Amino acid sequence: MVQANSSALLAGLAAVATARKCQNLTVPISITASNTHFKLQAPSNNVEVTDFVLNLAQPGANYTAEVLGDTPFASVSGNYTIGATYCTPDSGPGTALQVLTHGIAFDRWYWDFPVQNRKYSYADAALARNYSVFFYDRLGLGESSHGEPVNEIQAAMEVQALRALTTKLRDTSVPGIKDTYAKVVHVGHSFGSVQSYALVAAYPELSDGVALSGFSQALGDFVPYFLFAADFVEAAGASPALAAYPAGYLASSDKSAVQSNFFAPGNFDPAVLDAAYTTGQPVTVGELMTIGTAAAGNNSYGGPVLVITGDRDIPFCGGNCSISEPSIPAQVGEYFTNASPFEAVVVSGTGHGLNLGYSAHEVYASILDFFDKNV
Ligand SMILES: *[C@@H]1O[C@H](CO)[C@@H](O)[C@H](O)[C@H]1NC(C)=O
Ligand SMILES: *[C@@H]1O[C@H](CO)[C@@H](O)[C@H](O)[C@H]1NC(C)=O
Ligand SMILES: *[C@@H]1O[C@H](CO)[C@@H](O)[C@H](O)[C@H]1NC(C)=O
Ligand SMILES: *[C@@H]1O[C@H](CO)[C@@H](O)[C@H](O)[C@H]1NC(C)=O
Ligand SMILES: *[C@@H]1O[C@H](CO)[C@@H](O)[C@H](O)[C@H]1NC(C)=O
Ligand SMILES: *[C@@H]1O[C@H](CO)[C@@H](O)[C@H](O)[C@H]1NC(C)=O
Repeated sequence: MVQANSSALLAGLAAVATARKCQNLTVPISITASNTHFKLQAPSNNVEVTDFVLNLAQPGANYTAEVLGDTPFASVSGNYTIGATYCTPDSGPGTALQVLTHGIAFDRWYWDFPVQNRKYSYADAALARNYSVFFYDRLGLGESSHGEPVNEIQAAMEVQALRALTTKLRDTSVPGIKDTYAKVVHVGHSFGSVQSYALVAAYPELSDGVALSGFSQALGDFVPYFLFAADFVEAAGASPALAAYPAGYLASSDKSAVQSNFFAPGNFDPAVLDAAYTTGQPVTVGELMTIGTAAAGNNSYGGPVLVITGDRDIPFCGGNCSISEPSIPAQVGEYFTNASPFEAVVVSGTGHGLNLGYSAHEVYASILDFFDKNV
């Protein structure tokens, strides 16, 4: 394990917006997933939302089992569109294409955060190293198709969306993208890392390397911290920007909730927290009920794997990734039985939203160094 520190911080943040070519795209996909069927009414007011959180987070209980449908697995199909952005360096396609999957509470702009002249842009850092990037709104939110929040918009369906997008990118069948890449790698954050883990477990041929940020295998231990800190309410009432989401889509009701779950003490600019809150995106109850099992079990993926998590990450480390030796992120190596190589990095003083803290450029450099060396 590499223990990183924040010394290069101020120098890194002086980076200026990179020259690049980007286009926004709408990508049609047609997918089928083996979803979990729950007999649950979507919570339709804030009292029901809190009841749902109290039930889901209760120690010793297994709420997802309690509300499991009589036919627990259901094949669900859909024709959807995915809102995405594709960027290459100014000079043309880079050495490899990175497919970026964001986590809960954000949309694709987590990777290219639009504040302060893109000072917190992983996309720009990757472009500056001659990678191309494709980042998209996860199925269910933002400019991607929205859906039914209990039995449709779930982890398994979103893994199929990531599979379909990756396949289309490899086949050059995404309308608007003609560039071909010999190597396609995946970078996730949080729930996006869970989905990237599940992708390479089931379809290892689709990825030449993965970086799982804000990730560990200890989510099951700490998800109640996340659920309680999030202070969830119905998304439609949380902010005017989310007014169109139906019952069963939840969002944090205040800025402090976003701070608790994504930012570490002393490691962030309050203006970035403000932007993370005002541009915050919802999560479905179906996602919250299926996130725990999507990355369960060993993973026989044989390519290069990096896990990089902030030491003060709440949902995946309970606030201290170094509580054990090896660290909680380093223990993910026990699940990757064939990864070559496997590396884990714990970023000191950093929270779950590690692209957006003062240590962000140290995080970007760790991921890009890993790909430069191993892909
Ligand atoms: C893509 O969409 C974003 C958000 O709407 C916008 O800020 C950006 O200018 C668009 N980019 C291009 C190249 O059109
Ligand atoms: C809860 O129940 C589900 C469905 O039976 C099962 O897959 C899961 O492993 C259980 N979780 C725990 C923590 O026991
Ligand atoms: C998706 O579109 C195809 C082609 O138009 C159609 O045959 C199919 O029934 C659609 N699937 C769903 C689930 O709507
Ligand atoms: C970037 O990668 C492309 C494709 O491999 C290559 O042709 C180009 O020379 C690289 N540019 C730089 C600046 O390294
Ligand atoms: C995390 O836990 C370890 C082991 O108890 C401890 O040594 C370390 O100081 C803790 N980290 C922080 C930042 O307090
Ligand atoms: C997962 O792999 C580890 C070795 O890293 C092994 O000890 C364990 O039994 C495996 N678990 C399962 C469920 O196969």
